[in-house]
Amino acid sequence: MKRLPQGGTLIDRSAPIAIDLDGRRIAAFKGDTIGSAMAAAGVTVTGRSFKYHRPRGLYCMTGACANCLVTVGDEPNVRACTRQVEPGMRVTRQNAWPSADHDLLRAFDRTSFALPAGFYYKVFHKPRFVWPMVEPIIRRVAGLGRLPNRPAAEPHRDRLTVYPDVLVIGGGRAGLTAAAEAAGVGRRTLLLEAHDQVGGRLLATDPGAVASLEQAVRAAGVEIVTATPAFGVFEGPLVAAAGPNTLWRIRAHEIVFATGTIEQGAVFASNDLPGIVLSEAVDRLLALYGVLPGQSAVVIAYGPQARQTAAALEQAGAKVTLVDPSRQPVLSAVGSGKVQGVVLGGQPATRLACDLLVLAGARVPATNLLSQAGARLRYETTIETFVPDELPEGMRAVGSVAGAGESPIIPAPMAPADGKQFACLCMDVTEKEMRQSVKEGFDSAELLKRYTTLTMGPCQGKACLMSSLRLCAHLTDRPLPQVDRPTARPPYTPVSLGLLAAGHLVPRKETAIQERHVEAGAQFMWAGDWRRPHHYQDPRLECEAVHNRVGLIDVSSLGKFRVTGSQSVALLERLYPSKLGDLKVGRIRYGAMLNDQGVILDDGTICRLGEEEFFVTTTTGGTSAMDQWIKWWLADWALDARIINVSGGYAAFNLAGPHSRGVMQRVTYLDVSREALPYLMSARGELAGVPALILRIGFVGELSYEIHVPSAYGQHVWDVIMEAGKDFGMAPFGLEAQRILRLEKQHIIVGQDTDALSDPYGAGLSWMVKFEKPDFLGRRTLEETRDHGPSERLVGFTADEPQAPPEGAAVVEAGRPIGRVCSSRRSEQLKTIVGMAWVPAGLAEDGKTFEIAYDGHRASARVGLKPFYDPEGTRLRS
Ligand code: FES
Repeated sequence: MKRLPQGGTLIDRSAPIAIDLDGRRIAAFKGDTIGSAMAAAGVTVTGRSFKYHRPRGLYCMTGACANCLVTVGDEPNVRACTRQVEPGMRVTRQNAWPSADHDLLRAFDRTSFALPAGFYYKVFHKPRFVWPMVEPIIRRVAGLGRLPNRPAAEPHRDRLTVYPDVLVIGGGRAGLTAAAEAAGVGRRTLLLEAHDQVGGRLLATDPGAVASLEQAVRAAGVEIVTATPAFGVFEGPLVAAAGPNTLWRIRAHEIVFATGTIEQGAVFASNDLPGIVLSEAVDRLLALYGVLPGQSAVVIAYGPQARQTAAALEQAGAKVTLVDPSRQPVLSAVGSGKVQGVVLGGQPATRLACDLLVLAGARVPATNLLSQAGARLRYETTIETFVPDELPEGMRAVGSVAGAGESPIIPAPMAPADGKQFACLCMDVTEKEMRQSVKEGFDSAELLKRYTTLTMGPCQGKACLMSSLRLCAHLTDRPLPQVDRPTARPPYTPVSLGLLAAGHLVPRKETAIQERHVEAGAQFMWAGDWRRPHHYQDPRLECEAVHNRVGLIDVSSLGKFRVTGSQSVALLERLYPSKLGDLKVGRIRYGAMLNDQGVILDDGTICRLGEEEFFVTTTTGGTSAMDQWIKWWLADWALDARIINVSGGYAAFNLAGPHSRGVMQRVTYLDVSREALPYLMSARGELAGVPALILRIGFVGELSYEIHVPSAYGQHVWDVIMEAGKDFGMAPFGLEAQRILRLEKQHIIVGQDTDALSDPYGAGLSWMVKFEKPDFLGRRTLEETRDHGPSERLVGFTADEPQAPPEGAAVVEAGRPIGRVCSSRRSEQLKTIVGMAWVPAGLAEDGKTFEIAYDGHRASARVGLKPFYDPEGTRLRS
């Protein structure tokens, strides 16, 4: 391999660049890819293979195979042939030890008899202790690149959704023409091209034609997006494509598939030696990068373009032998670490010396995306391959993917021979493994795929599907059209997880007080789809303010419903297991809503505002679901009741702490004394000059007032209360402090402390279930639970540990999990860890102990069934 003195339409010879390859300096030019720079520097081994650590070299130069995967900086599995060089780039060849050139792990190649197809089911399992020892070794020495163990400095990535009239996938001649036609009649047209440039193969042979085609297409108004392979077609249809830093989601009225053809390799002995390449790799190296990949080439002419490739090699100074494989099929390649010759069949068999073996022109339609889109394929005998037959409405296939073009000779499967014959280069699957698998009964392409991992590697069958299908047909003695094709699934082209997680529009809700939280330096967290303050200062100090002085929390995100009507009581009594008909006007009751299996869905308060009017609150995260839930049942029961979701209409705050009454007296003329407004009582009147509903409730263990005011005045009321609380040392508090304060009181959080199986009996809320009333959701199941008792109970616990056990930690007995921790925090007030855990019902007794296991640590916890703080509720009711 060498750099030619001229040529290379993509490189700028006036701009030399140096890159580091395994600690060695490699000279390149601007516009080179890592692969072309390696080739120009004479580096033949681009990496080591997946399983057997065999040397591999550049093969396709189009990003279609997995031969050239390297690590760039910390980023593993970069295709060297498509990533452009940058000054100072640090490149490491993968899957080798100590180096790609001298890989001692190549020993696995010699012991491959111990790793037959499906070896993980077969070997190293007896005696049983062997597999756990062998598995980590296999995992360590096999595989692709390694993920960095520190977070990568990720570039910003975007997600873009577009709606063109026409989407053309593929920027070859057919795609460009289709795009120009569509745009010519006024349709908004988007063209996606996987490579950096449109034109594909044409670029390597006639860059002038590409330039003029592209110019014409742009002039017609087509939007051309390059370096963006479409990797999946989903229902909709939705086409997903991966740009360098953009995830494209495309919904078009019409999709034109111009995905062209893919060049295939051939299966023969030692067909993976570096120096064995596809003709497209040669064309691209010569024309785009001015690199001659070999001095002495044998070109196997599977298709018409072989002549072009041979001529280009000759013109660049190589000695070329053109072979007709229908007369002289390739039997094997010869060489050690690099191709040095080829043995051809025929009469007599011939051996030719070479340093470059070109498999030229065995091209098959690239139908994978079409199959994903639901197209039916048929076997076309004239070109011996599958072509699209029936396409879903609104889709077209044009150009060579539709079967247009000249017929290649598809390499025939070979007979068993000395040396490994690779059917799938990515996954190191050999013809012998396939033969063995067929013998074992895995005789369809789908089964072979799963048993051998054939076509499951990074190339997703691009370079090996056809040869694998042919082998399957050959080994099972069936005609090729009768061999099933494995299901085509996204992603057709590898996509980084970072790109799939690309920043997209995240709907977020903010309360009317958001600005004030930001000004106060709040750190935010997600609570459902709300952004709510997690804390403003150390949450321990926020708790301390609530316990000893007064604190204010924004609870505007609570769900709020107004229920009216002559049968509003009937509605609520069916929705809640509690009795509500006896609730006096002005009074408030805590309630949990259940589903028809008695599972807790949500909780909140019900305040009776009038004989036929209620104000109901639900959790922040449950608002939308409860809105639908209540309306669904109301429609079914056809009661005279109306439900209005007023959640967005009201801002709400909880003013809590021993001085909260003092603050209230400064902001309202209402009588908020213990006598006039006792615990679980409501009042309506003006607060800060604004109409307000005040509820004497609180879940943080201290005297508190929940204040609801129209959202438009939320910020004003917040300001007035904060100002009034200054002298009392008031502090705003966030969700973290609220969690700690609630845990001290054992107030559960639905969804955190309960799950899809939790009922009131298990959750310690059986007191609210009133069977004496007629019917309510969940009644039947709860009757069962009442009679037999719950098998698990939610209990409070304390633990004398420096750190709170993580939520989700297992409750264990004799090493076996018997429960789980759902909430835990350290309470500075109580100087201990407080938490909630699900345990077997037998453990739900005050003072019983259990063990919590996490991170190799065992913590002892003590059950407490009453609130840990102010168990009698004296402070709450004060
Ligand atoms: S040589 Fe780079 S992907 Fe095939």
